[in-house]
Amino acid sequence: MDKETTNLQHFLLNRQKDYPEATGEFTSLFQDILLASKIISREVNKAGLVEILGLTGKVNVQGEEVQKLDEFSLETFVKVMRRGGSLCVMASEETDDIITIPDKYPKGKYVLVFDPLDGSSNIDANVSIGTIFGIYKRVTDENKDEKCGYADVLQPARDLVAAGYVIYGSSTMFVYSTGQGVHGFTLDPSVGEFLLSHEDIKIPKKSKIYSVNEGNYNKWSDGVKRYIDYLKAEDKETDRPYKARYIGSLVADFHRNLLYGGIFMYPRDKKSKNGKLRLLYEAGPLAYIVKQAGGYASDGKKDILDIVPDKIHQRVPLFIGSEEDVKKLEEFIKKNGDDV
Ligand code: AHG
Ligand code: MN
Ligand code: MN
Repeated sequence: MDKETTNLQHFLLNRQKDYPEATGEFTSLFQDILLASKIISREVNKAGLVEILGLTGKVNVQGEEVQKLDEFSLETFVKVMRRGGSLCVMASEETDDIITIPDKYPKGKYVLVFDPLDGSSNIDANVSIGTIFGIYKRVTDENKDEKCGYADVLQPARDLVAAGYVIYGSSTMFVYSTGQGVHGFTLDPSVGEFLLSHEDIKIPKKSKIYSVNEGNYNKWSDGVKRYIDYLKAEDKETDRPYKARYIGSLVADFHRNLLYGGIFMYPRDKKSKNGKLRLLYEAGPLAYIVKQAGGYASDGKKDILDIVPDKIHQRVPLFIGSEEDVKKLEEFIKKNGDDV
């Protein structure tokens, strides 16, 4: 497709023939996500100039300090998404409970789960940050007067109908999949459109990059320690040692690994028995995307896509990226154990 003039709306409509169940409701849902992303991108890009940096002084349900941009991003998504008529419920990293759609707005058949701003600790340092989202179809039946709620949110990532992320970096990019491959669009601020820049992204099966916070090394299981030691050992045959790249924003580390190949890891450790990252709105949507790009995501033993969440803020160990690298990690855990 001619990149310079293909915006996301055109690309989505043009591919609707790939999946008959796509309706205008789905496309308008995407339009709203794009609008919210552009508004957040505008604030991120002038963060140094306006009173949007720094902390709000609040602590969220995760026990993390809430940055002003976290709050702005959450409010932007809720205000834009709740009025569109496509959703019946939302869940976010920044809200304790599920977000219901006020009665004054029409409701739809979709569910949105999202991390409004990922990598918050990097905001004040002008390092890339992002937004992560996943879209499910509701499973409750309004014809049987079933209320839209937890059952519609607590679905495994394999049942996502779409997932994506926005990365607010040197440029603002929108990367998504609806099960027909992974496609990237770059925001052209002069026209206010996301234009096609990366069609059908595929992640290399094997890589030379690993991303992990090595400050936690002593808290990891033997399986993970042995794997990291393996990656750092000299061996021409298997192209080792790997390069260490860690930005501290999951979206930015994931995006680089998606394009260049790599394995991102946030293992469980003695302090955080389930790791730090959240299944519903971080690991799950990215596992869906990486699978569509030919990669793989695991909790160290099984596919992230198959884990059914029992709580909206459930954490999960995450190993995600080039398939052969993640499978190799699983072998080390199988051989050396994973208990911490
Ligand atoms: P969030 O800002 O949404 O809370 O996510 C931060 C996450 C993720 O972006 C990143 O990979 C990880 O925290 C970094 O954690 P450490 O600082 O412990 O390495
Ligand atoms: Mn996050
Ligand atoms: Mn966040």
